[in-house]
Amino acid sequence: MMPRDDRDDVEQKSPPPPGYPLGAPLPALRSAPDWEERGEKERDRAGSPKPLPTNIALIGFMGTGKSTVGRALARRLGWRYVDTDARIEAIAGCDIPTLFACEGEAAFRAREAQVVLGLAAGAGQVIATGGGVPLRAENAAALRTAGLVVYLTARPDVIVARTERRAADRPLLANRGDRDLLTHVMALLGERAPRYQQAAHLIVDTSDRSPENIAAEVARKAEKWAVGAAVSAASAAGEGR
Ligand code: S3P
Repeated sequence: MMPRDDRDDVEQKSPPPPGYPLGAPLPALRSAPDWEERGEKERDRAGSPKPLPTNIALIGFMGTGKSTVGRALARRLGWRYVDTDARIEAIAGCDIPTLFACEGEAAFRAREAQVVLGLAAGAGQVIATGGGVPLRAENAAALRTAGLVVYLTARPDVIVARTERRAADRPLLANRGDRDLLTHVMALLGERAPRYQQAAHLIVDTSDRSPENIAAEVARKAEKWAVGAAVSAASAAGEGR
């Protein structure tokens, strides 16, 4: 198989789908899934490739399934899976609790913003973000410019069930004084939810669902979103002429 970047280059040069006004610029669309792997016969059976956003970023509170759904979605689309926390850990050479303890939260947030900016320059990626990423306006703006931003939600009790066993791995959950985990999660969610909503193009609930099922919904909605974005861009270009 060709390296990701070469293949992207080829896909970017494919002719625009029928139905767009002649000469109207199209936003960057990607083709899914990976037809090279699946073979030409299947492509012919399936018809023309579907449009997708340039990237898909998953945002939301800790324990909403960003990493698990992100991996399932990347597999489904044949895209690269990237994770801001994993990048930060690889660059720093230590895990996140150690970073918080040694450098403090402000330094972690600065590293996080740098990683987000770097990833936002790429394409064909499912980006799973740390729960604090969209709280910085410039992170949210970079992700929105880079593609589709999906806010994954879950009920507080589901978040507690998913995070309690390893709450110590997440400094924002571990450092909660004498508050119980559910009370703490609900308080943090109350502060953060409006910021997540503001940053997102779409919201998808993950409570009591399998990662595959959620990934399928995100993929379906991403196609719709990309078509809508292409149509708005084409009509805006038409009005400007
Ligand atoms: C954080 C969430 C974590 C990690 C760090 C801070 C947050 O990522 O980035 O512990 O502020 O919500 P996950 O959302 O993947 O747990």
